[in-house]
Amino acid sequence: MRNFYISFVLVSLLLSSCSQPPETAVEQEVQTTETGNAYYQERYRPAYHFSPQENWMNDPNGLVYFDGEYHLFYQYNPQGNQWGNMSWGHAVSTDLLHWEHLPIALEMENGNMIFSGSAVVDKNNSSGLCDSPEGCMMAIYTAHTDKLQTQAIAYSNDRGRSWTKYEGNPVLDENMKDFRDPKVFWYAEGQKWVMSVAIPKEQKIRFYESQNLIDWNMMSEFGPQGFVDGIWECPDLFPLQVAETGEEKWVLLVSYNTDSIGSSMQYFVGDFNGREFTNDNTDDLILTLDYGRDFYAGVTWNNVPDEGLLLIGWINNWQYAGEIPTTPWRSAQSLVRKLYLHEFPEGIRLTQTPVEATQKLRQQHVHDENVQLQEGDNYLSLENIQGKQLEIIAEFAYEAIDTQSEAEALAGEFGVKVFKGEEQETIIGYDVATQSLFMDRTQSGDTSFHDTFSERTVALMPTDDGTVSMHIYVDHSVVEVFGNNGYVAMTNRVFPDPSQDGVEIYAIGGIVTLKSLDIWEVDSIWNQTVVKDHSQ
Ligand code: FRU
Repeated sequence: MRNFYISFVLVSLLLSSCSQPPETAVEQEVQTTETGNAYYQERYRPAYHFSPQENWMNDPNGLVYFDGEYHLFYQYNPQGNQWGNMSWGHAVSTDLLHWEHLPIALEMENGNMIFSGSAVVDKNNSSGLCDSPEGCMMAIYTAHTDKLQTQAIAYSNDRGRSWTKYEGNPVLDENMKDFRDPKVFWYAEGQKWVMSVAIPKEQKIRFYESQNLIDWNMMSEFGPQGFVDGIWECPDLFPLQVAETGEEKWVLLVSYNTDSIGSSMQYFVGDFNGREFTNDNTDDLILTLDYGRDFYAGVTWNNVPDEGLLLIGWINNWQYAGEIPTTPWRSAQSLVRKLYLHEFPEGIRLTQTPVEATQKLRQQHVHDENVQLQEGDNYLSLENIQGKQLEIIAEFAYEAIDTQSEAEALAGEFGVKVFKGEEQETIIGYDVATQSLFMDRTQSGDTSFHDTFSERTVALMPTDDGTVSMHIYVDHSVVEVFGNNGYVAMTNRVFPDPSQDGVEIYAIGGIVTLKSLDIWEVDSIWNQTVVKDHSQ
């Protein structure tokens, strides 16, 4: 306990001296102008999550690896900080962590917006649109007007730096007003391209096939199943091996959006025979990808060499997306996550964890282990730890519960509070009685911009041995949590006052041991280059 205290005090000095942010946006501008570098320093600006320099962003699009670069395109409004004029913004990375902004890739033209879609590498020039027989990059997107949504393609022969819209567009027109978000992949077994596309208001995903990315034949439809209220968007179909058995299963991701509960994502586990996707589970089973309020339109990268399946999602929710209090930009993308399939007592489920590269950002480190938490013990020794850019791994063990009456006696709650100050806190906790992980942002700071923002998100996370782990990424206004090795993912936005930046371990009732605790300060991914000074 004594060592614990000493190490925290030492490191807390380090952490607090590294990150003393100004109190208000106005003060910040003054300070950053003095140092000549206001880049990515605005209030609430994430330091290690991708966000555009300015203006509105929503879904990730066109995720593809090509010639040493991971491409991230995204729904973007070049003209403002609200949704509109949809175009594809563009960034590239060589490590899935540091992003280089590139000029807009596909711009809205003559009232035709460029909605969400995907990108592939047309390796054998199946389309005939590539300059080289070795192929080129191809984007497949939804061309949107108020009356009609069709699928269109564009190609790039210079590693995605410039794009030409195919003159024969659209390549798929079913005369539908709502028909969008094509995700295309190469189906090796059948030697063909396969496209999943959403019919949002019918809660259906349609599958098409093509030999050349230009002529498409419909194969089948899936849905409505799972969560069927609201609309379906942004499908993604891919195979993945079950870790325990090596069996190949197919996973279908579907984003859904409702007026009442906003945006969320579900997935289905089943089989794909080259034409049809079949769900292994009952129609009414809903499998949730991320239990926070802010993870939507998540899709995976195509053509990745050998790192497995990589997912990124939009950290926002259509319910309040245009109202979150950030300027001159809106929204962030999640960390890049690796997806796995595992067998659990309840069935085969996806788990997810940020890519290993994220660890490169770790800076000063605090560690301790085996500390018994008393009821109400607030860990005063953490009092001086401050930070808005942190990675925290906390492993707890609570005493096993045998009987109903003991359950009541031992029930309790424990976890980690971040953005903790005198008035505000964001709680990541585990509730023993309900065996669930939760994040509580009711006291997290500014929640006033929308009446559904002040809330607690909850996910069942049963443990058979009383062990609970929380892997938490804290980034100014983003909190991503992975519970029990990615069994639960929970992503939420929060808008704390800059002064509220403490960390606290807490326990209420029950008998709980903090088996181990690691806290790192996390480096910014933006601090090297000054591309544009927003304070001008
Ligand atoms: C999902 C979505 C997509 C659409 C895009 C428009 O967030 O509604 O269905 O293509 O955003 O920006």
